[in-house]
Amino acid sequence: MKHFKLAVIAGDGIGTEVMDEGIKVLKYYLEKTGYATVSFDYFPWGCEYYHKTGEMMPENGLEILKDYDSILLGAVGYPGVPDHISLRDLLLKIRQGFDQAVNLRPIKLLNGAPCPLKFKTPEMIDFVVIRENVEGEYAGNGYFENRGTDAEVAYQTGVFTRKNTDRIMRYAFDLAQKSEKGKKLTSVTKSNALNYSMVFWDERFKAIAADYPGVKTENNHVDAISMYFIQRPESFDVVVASNLFGDIITDLGAALQGGLGFAASANLNIEGTYPSMFEPVHGSAPEIAGKQVANPMAMIWTVKLLLDHLLPAYKHDSIVDAIEKTLVDAKTLTPDLGGTAKTAAVGDAICQALTF
Ligand code: NAI
Ligand code: MG
Repeated sequence: MKHFKLAVIAGDGIGTEVMDEGIKVLKYYLEKTGYATVSFDYFPWGCEYYHKTGEMMPENGLEILKDYDSILLGAVGYPGVPDHISLRDLLLKIRQGFDQAVNLRPIKLLNGAPCPLKFKTPEMIDFVVIRENVEGEYAGNGYFENRGTDAEVAYQTGVFTRKNTDRIMRYAFDLAQKSEKGKKLTSVTKSNALNYSMVFWDERFKAIAADYPGVKTENNHVDAISMYFIQRPESFDVVVASNLFGDIITDLGAALQGGLGFAASANLNIEGTYPSMFEPVHGSAPEIAGKQVANPMAMIWTVKLLLDHLLPAYKHDSIVDAIEKTLVDAKTLTPDLGGTAKTAAVGDAICQALTF
């Protein structure tokens, strides 16, 4: 039987509370299926650690993490530590340092989840966004001119290498080719206005498409796709976007599926050179932390993405089905979903709802 070594960074605020439930479901699922055994090493990194040591994680943090099969992350960020420090010194360090070039975000509406669109049903909202995760507009390239004067100018340069753009496109095309839904890939662009980066993006999309004759393709400008996500979410299967555009449209996607309580994500190192990292999209929600009221469903869905990555030979949809059953049953829900249940009770209910 396979054995996996996981690094756990539960982080701050509700990160630790939802992590407990994610691990509870993961252990129960593997025990029952017998697919693999798993061991966990916990790292107390994050804002509390920062207060004690002046660092979000030790300087050799990546060195420590690099031999794990994967990393599970809760959330980081807490009042008293500037967000650009908590984000840059931990999350971005891991995503970029481990070349986690793909950010995969399922956008799927479950029965019982509070979708804000009146005329859309769960069958109509079910697609995946592949967001470029290490370069693009977030490469950190730029400079100021004439700082502090009336003639001040700020430049922020997007970086799009052919090597990285091509591998993101190929990853998205491979996924679309395997898709049971539509075998369709939509590229998010803005080449009418961004005459270098997005013209290049379109060129690479077209070039790679030639290797995938079985995949239907579509190009949407980022402004237009924001409208189409609302008007015709049923028309999407796999969507590929640059770092900034992907960041924006996946929040829109989270809203379509009922909010942050359901938004799960995988940061994937495509070549397997370094560990991938799995995290819910939400933050540490300091105002509700420590009260056992956080919704653990996004974290538990994230565990499903981890399993897809570690054990691709099996389907792990039963985890999402168990979340859905718990929603429909509506007896054990946290306050954000109108219930009174504790975080741990929702984890228990989802374990009970699992079928094997
Ligand atoms: P947030 O996601 O923590 O909270 C936004 C709103 O959603 C709040 O009203 C919160 O109570 C609610 N919420 C979030 N997750 C929930 C859950 N599982 N169950 C029930 N309600 C939930 O975002 P916010 O408030 O902007 O940031 C708080 C801190 O988290 C900041 O320090 C920020 O930097 C950090 N953050 C960290 C992220 C990460 O670790 N990936 C992502 C986003 C924010
Ligand atoms: Mg997160």
